[in-house]
Amino acid sequence: MTKLGVLLLSACMFVSFRDVESINTAVVAGQQFLHYTLEKNVNNFNETERNKTCSMFIKDFRKFWYNSSGGKYLTEYLSFLEEWLCHAQFSLECLKRPYDFNQFTKTTYDRACNRSVFETQCFSSLVAVSSVRGRNSSQKWNNLLRALKTYQLSDAELQDPCIQVALYDAVVLERGKYGYYHESKRLLLPFCQISWCGRDAENINRNPIKAWNCLPHICKVNIIITMVICSILAVAIVVANLSVILVFVINEKLRNSQGVYKISLACADF
Ligand SMILES: *[C@@H]1O[C@H](CO)[C@@H](O)[C@H](O)[C@H]1NC(C)=O
Ligand SMILES: *[C@@H]1O[C@H](CO)[C@@H](O)[C@H](O)[C@H]1NC(C)=O
Ligand SMILES: *[C@@H]1O[C@H](CO)[C@@H](O)[C@H](O)[C@H]1NC(C)=O
Ligand SMILES: *[C@@H]1O[C@H](CO)[C@@H](O)[C@H](O)[C@H]1NC(C)=O
Ligand SMILES: *[C@@H]1O[C@H](CO)[C@@H](O)[C@H](O)[C@H]1NC(C)=O
Repeated sequence: MTKLGVLLLSACMFVSFRDVESINTAVVAGQQFLHYTLEKNVNNFNETERNKTCSMFIKDFRKFWYNSSGGKYLTEYLSFLEEWLCHAQFSLECLKRPYDFNQFTKTTYDRACNRSVFETQCFSSLVAVSSVRGRNSSQKWNNLLRALKTYQLSDAELQDPCIQVALYDAVVLERGKYGYYHESKRLLLPFCQISWCGRDAENINRNPIKAWNCLPHICKVNIIITMVICSILAVAIVVANLSVILVFVINEKLRNSQGVYKISLACADF
């Protein structure tokens, strides 16, 4: 019974309105500066320095990747490793895929590690969003990406991991650079898998990215059930304690030391 109570209590503590909040899309300035300095110097690095920088960057990501507000994005991480010519580390990353937790992260790895796998798997998603809008002119990948950026995508379309990663691909194609793309992740939700998704800045402006929107359907159902149970428990506790206080207030005979003890317990329970 106590174990069940502890389980329920921790579930109630984790499910809060934080889960439905939008992420802070402000880019972490300090980190950008670090990337900028490394980027500027990377062409002048000798092999030893490059290897050191690559290893440092990997260590840094391993330390902070789970931070939902730290601006550590898997999409950018893989782009950096590739761009900074961290060949050994990049191949190892592609081989082991340590952050491959769901369809979004898998597709992100596919894009970075084997583009043909990514394009083959996601082609139909891109064609689908185009054809729904009556566009059919060219079915070349880059044209589909450019078209994708002009659409007002629906919530359902934005939930497709292929569309999410294609939006990153489109940002890189358009700007020749990463950035203007954000990821949202929540690792600890009761009765749920990891939640991790991404979206470009324009779509976030139109429709703020919410951890809630990333969750698989079954997980949303579980969270709603948990929230309902937590609310019922909260109401039951309030009613029970109120009734103790009411009985005490109404019944003069109970105003002795034992009664005071009980009422203090009831008050503390709030
Ligand atoms: C690489 O550069 C570092 C620092 O600039 C230097 O100490 C090291 O000897 C260099 N290594 C090689 C192989 O040139
Ligand atoms: C790069 O650094 C790692 C450890 O930081 C080391 O194990 C590896 O041998 C180095 N590779 C090269 C090519 O120097
Ligand atoms: C997560 O990132 C934020 C912003 O960079 C930082 O303030 C916070 O301390 C980090 N949390 C952890 C657990 O590293
Ligand atoms: C990409 O994946 C395909 C299909 O699995 C495979 O045939 C191809 O060799 C891979 N390419 C690279 C560069 O790994
Ligand atoms: C659209 O594409 C399909 C398949 O590629 C093709 O059969 C059809 O004729 C195209 N329609 C238009 C209007 O271009």
